[in-house]
Amino acid sequence: MQATPSAQDYAFQTVAHVEAGAGACSRLGELAARYAPGARTAMLVTDAGVRKAGLLEPALQALRAAGLQAQVFDGVQADPPDHVALFACTQAREARAGLVIGFGGGSSMDVAKIVACLAHPENRLELPQLYGVESVRAQRLPLLQVPTTAGTGSEVTRVAIVTTGATTKSGIVNAALLADAVLLDAELTRGLPPAVTAATGIDAMVHAIEAYTSARRKNPMSDMLAREALRLLGGSLLRAVDDGGDLRAREDMLRGAMLAGMAFDNAPVAAVHALAYPLGGIHHLPHGLSNALVLPHVLRFNQPAAGELYAELAQVLLPRAEPGDAGAHQMIEHMAGLGARSGLPTRLRDCGVESGGLALLAREAMGQQRLLQNNPRPLNEADALAIYQAAF
Ligand SMILES: NC(=O)c1ccc[n+]([C@@H]2O[C@H](COP(=O)([O-])OP(=O)(O)OC[C@H]3O[C@@H](n4cnc5c(N)ncnc54)[C@H](O)[C@@H]3O)[C@@H](O)[C@H]2O)c1
Ligand SMILES: [Fe+2]
Repeated sequence: MQATPSAQDYAFQTVAHVEAGAGACSRLGELAARYAPGARTAMLVTDAGVRKAGLLEPALQALRAAGLQAQVFDGVQADPPDHVALFACTQAREARAGLVIGFGGGSSMDVAKIVACLAHPENRLELPQLYGVESVRAQRLPLLQVPTTAGTGSEVTRVAIVTTGATTKSGIVNAALLADAVLLDAELTRGLPPAVTAATGIDAMVHAIEAYTSARRKNPMSDMLAREALRLLGGSLLRAVDDGGDLRAREDMLRGAMLAGMAFDNAPVAAVHALAYPLGGIHHLPHGLSNALVLPHVLRFNQPAAGELYAELAQVLLPRAEPGDAGAHQMIEHMAGLGARSGLPTRLRDCGVESGGLALLAREAMGQQRLLQNNPRPLNEADALAIYQAAF
């Protein structure tokens, strides 16, 4: 007799090794030696902002102490275009890198994932072959990730997002992108400006919320991680925005963002992200801000289908949450207020978006079916337009 699948049947996968601690960056050399024994050159993928913030030196020192030459690629741009990722790959091949380290925000870590795959000497892959969900079986060079924002959770996801062409974003979901190890050092995030702290922190909260309400692959492990992520992020976001030097708050944010990443890598994100991507692609708004702008309106749209789950999250976020619909409403309004309280603009019109451009945004959002299929309530182009209008 064949067993009937139960609601508890699930699969869960994540990065196997996390090293955390203030100053943990000094352990980068040991990690490199462990996961890439015999490598002579490490390719460190980052951006000019991270370099200018003076964050690289301890990492480079740790690599040197482990006998590795470090080749720095600091040409990553926010919402990295495909040609930037390809240029980084060429540099890694020329340097004969035996190890890749993503060092920065989601943009740098995503490019590092692509470099680790495409620069592997035995892969004969072109970048477009990677687009999509597990589209090819790929090998990669050893890969370490060091986040310097507390937001995307990219350090623990098998996702990389690339800007292709003028305005569209394409996703890669591939098990080969899961890093060998992650190093969490909250010291690296102390200098994050308040606006970046706010936007990236809300991105992380959205990961937790969307994982918890995902229509596909939501499971007891992702639920547990999403709830703990939201507790940490919700409890510390405003403290980290108001006082960047508050190390406890920074640690909560960094751990919360990672846990949310582990959650959504297994229970994928949905309409908030689908509607945020065109704002990044067309208007070049930062990823977290794009999420924050559409978040309250997508939550209100989803409430008829996801209200019970929102009420559960209200219990995690708010000390005096009510049960049922009232709690769901409290949770939605709390999230709506958080963007404004953390200093972010709250309307599309204040971010350079024109009302005449909303229809194009809605059309582009429909291209994100990979994400929309996870939404707890089906959402069509007319719904997307109504959400952008409400957010305008
Ligand atoms: N792979 C995934 O799972 C995943 C998930 C969500 C988003 N993303 C992608 O991640 C990207 C966004 O990443 P992000 O929000 O982390 O931003 P980011 O990597 O684009 O960095 C934003 C800015 O912050 C600066 N910065 C980073 N760390 C700093 C620090 N410690 N001090 C001072 N400045 C610092 C950078 O120089 C940059 O100017 C987007 O491309 C998005 O699509 C990926
Ligand atoms: Fe995100």
